[in-house]
Amino acid sequence: MAKQDSVFIKYLSLLLVLLLLFEAGRAARLNQWESGIRLPTEKDEPQDEDDPQLGTRWAVLVAGSSGYDNYRHQADVCHAYQLLRKGGLKEENIVVFMYDDIAMHKLNPRPGVIINNPKGDDVYAGVPKDYTGVHVTAANLYAVLLGNKSALSGGSGKVVDSKPNDRIFLFYSDHGGPGVLGMPNLPFLYAMDFLDVLKKKHAAGRYKEMVIYVESCESGSVFEGIMPKDLNIYVTTASNAQESSWGTYCPGMEPSPPTEYTTCLGDLYSVAWMEDSETHNLKRETVKQQYETVRERTSNFNSYTFGGSHVMEYGNTTIKAEKLCLYQGFDPSTVNFPPNELTHMEAVNQRDADILFLWHMYKNSEDGSKKTEILRQITETMRHRIHLDGSIDLIGTLLYGPAKGSGILNSVREPGLPLVDDWQCLKSMVRLFETHCGLLTQYGMKHMRAFANLCNSGVSQSLMEQACVAACSGHDTRQWHPSNQGYSA
Ligand SMILES: *[C@@H]1O[C@H](CO)[C@@H](O)[C@H](O)[C@H]1NC(C)=O
Ligand SMILES: *[C@@H]1O[C@H](CO)[C@@H](O)[C@H](O)[C@H]1NC(C)=O
Repeated sequence: MAKQDSVFIKYLSLLLVLLLLFEAGRAARLNQWESGIRLPTEKDEPQDEDDPQLGTRWAVLVAGSSGYDNYRHQADVCHAYQLLRKGGLKEENIVVFMYDDIAMHKLNPRPGVIINNPKGDDVYAGVPKDYTGVHVTAANLYAVLLGNKSALSGGSGKVVDSKPNDRIFLFYSDHGGPGVLGMPNLPFLYAMDFLDVLKKKHAAGRYKEMVIYVESCESGSVFEGIMPKDLNIYVTTASNAQESSWGTYCPGMEPSPPTEYTTCLGDLYSVAWMEDSETHNLKRETVKQQYETVRERTSNFNSYTFGGSHVMEYGNTTIKAEKLCLYQGFDPSTVNFPPNELTHMEAVNQRDADILFLWHMYKNSEDGSKKTEILRQITETMRHRIHLDGSIDLIGTLLYGPAKGSGILNSVREPGLPLVDDWQCLKSMVRLFETHCGLLTQYGMKHMRAFANLCNSGVSQSLMEQACVAACSGHDTRQWHPSNQGYSA
């Protein structure tokens, strides 16, 4: 019995040891598995929120337009504000430029509310009114970026008071043209002025790195050939130097806004980056991964003529390896979100969005006198467009002869070359034209390349003036005379 007992005990203890070993192994495997699951939120964090080395995250958000027909640009910017706040950026570190005429606009079907997606929530509540109305200007944007309070005119006085270790994220959504971005108050932002501001900021050593996202037509032209690689700035743009960018979530298109909206809710590139950020863990996703996803979605499955554009990149591409949370923060609730589906989005050329808007207003209106008024607006707008296009054509013919005129004015320089060599010359040409032919307006921005080419081919100011007088004398510029709103340059 005793012998049998001891054998049994030996057997039992062996079993126990095996069992313990097995359990230990299982626990180890479990641990590994569990830590694998925790990776996104814990282990994979390259940055600790409280790391003083990290510096402060700053953001500057700019909607460069006004008017209900341009609803989408301010909607993009409000949405970006909410996204960054959820990511943990502080209100005091986000400077917002928006005209602020949308939320309370009489045509807004949801007073006090702005949405940026057909199914989206309000993105307006809480957005700080730093620079609104007449204070949304290129000059104030430069002062804000440089942190120069004495150069400000109006507004909240909030500036990017950044330190050498800080990072800055800048997002701009608007109309544009070759070499320029729009502003609701003239003049436009000119690429070389903007670049000078970035260079000054860099020379002052007031940031570690900067990421800039720009949505506008021809947005690539603002950086093409002039954006250096040594400013620690990485830029992506919605389009290349010679194509439109696109409005989306537009009435009558798929996906469409709720039926009560007569205006587009967003822009293709803008909603692409924001909807990507909202559905990914920004502690894991890199700037490069977002660039690639946004490029794919903004190309709209390579349909470049009917609502898609080429997303471009400029500046220091080493920055792409960094995690997005360094610029956009991190919202813990996005960790387990499924990736968003990439679907084809119908889109409208930025430059035709205002006509689309008026046309929907016309269609939906039942009041006879209102219909007549809208029809008059459509006609005036189209007439001014035709006048602008015709005048530029005529100026080309007068300066270079009928065979060469349009070829010279429309010629596009090789990639890598700037739009124009002498940016002051470009501004003078714009002022001469507007004096005699009326304001370019957001549509006429597309003719910037013609003015640039006049400069590149060495046409003098006096020859240009003669051509403008000849092309436009006798034309009544009416509401588009620069005496009303100032010049675009
Ligand atoms: C700030 O702006 C003012 C007014 O434009 C200018 O005189 C001053 O030199 C600027 N300061 C710096 C540090 O750039
Ligand atoms: C680009 O940025 C990286 C990371 O900040 C930096 O190390 C590198 O020197 C920069 N390149 C240039 C040309 O300045």
